[in-house]
Amino acid sequence: MELGFTYSFGQTPISHEEREGLCIQTISTRGELDEFEQENIQSAVEWTLKQKFTKEKILTIDFIKTVHKQMFNQVWKWAGTFRTSNKNLGVDKSRIIEELKILLDDCQYWIEHRTYPPDEIAIRFKHRMVSIHPFPNGNGRHSRLCSDIVISHVFNERVFSWGALHLASTVESRQHYLNTIRKADEGDIEPLLRFARS
Ligand SMILES: Nc1ncnc2c1ncn2[C@@H]1O[C@H](COP(=O)(O)OP(=O)(O)OP(=O)(O)O)[C@@H](O)[C@H]1O
Ligand SMILES: [Mg+2]
Repeated sequence: MELGFTYSFGQTPISHEEREGLCIQTISTRGELDEFEQENIQSAVEWTLKQKFTKEKILTIDFIKTVHKQMFNQVWKWAGTFRTSNKNLGVDKSRIIEELKILLDDCQYWIEHRTYPPDEIAIRFKHRMVSIHPFPNGNGRHSRLCSDIVISHVFNERVFSWGALHLASTVESRQHYLNTIRKADEGDIEPLLRFARS
């Protein structure tokens, strides 16, 4: 039997390369990794709930990195640092900071001029962020938390549910989420907006 088939869901071993970047050397399976990441992210969420961030603070390169660091620093050594290699997703690694600065400027403008309703500003921000793909991993989760920070700290509105109502079928919900991201890539932000509040 192929080795891979002996692992059940969540038991997939992590790669050698991934292990290199781990803070906790005893993590050996994907399932364990998920748990540690989830715990770390939970502490980051609590951190966001304990304070009040202004838009001037949020819309900076420093803050974008800090959020990622808060989410993953107990698990990954590279938490809060931008990627240094290219991926099949995202901009060229040499363009990350420049593209982020453009996004932060754009978002600042949208907020000041009420270019879009609050939800749409937060979701456009999330979509552009994950399209840049600044970090080696955790970009999806980071972009969703950034969006939650914008909607709650800048606009004083409740955070997104990100499809929680459809969690009965995680796989389907995940597929639907990725479809809405692709629609947004094509310029149609509506499906992602609806998903975020579903
Ligand atoms: N075509 C696409 N365009 C833009 N972003 C995409 C596209 N396909 C996937 N993504 C985003 O990339 C993310 C995955 O990137 P990464 O693995 O760095 O993040 P993650 O936080 O580990 O993933 P997840 O979202 O599963 O928690 C997805 O969440 C999705 O938002
Ligand atoms: Mg990932």
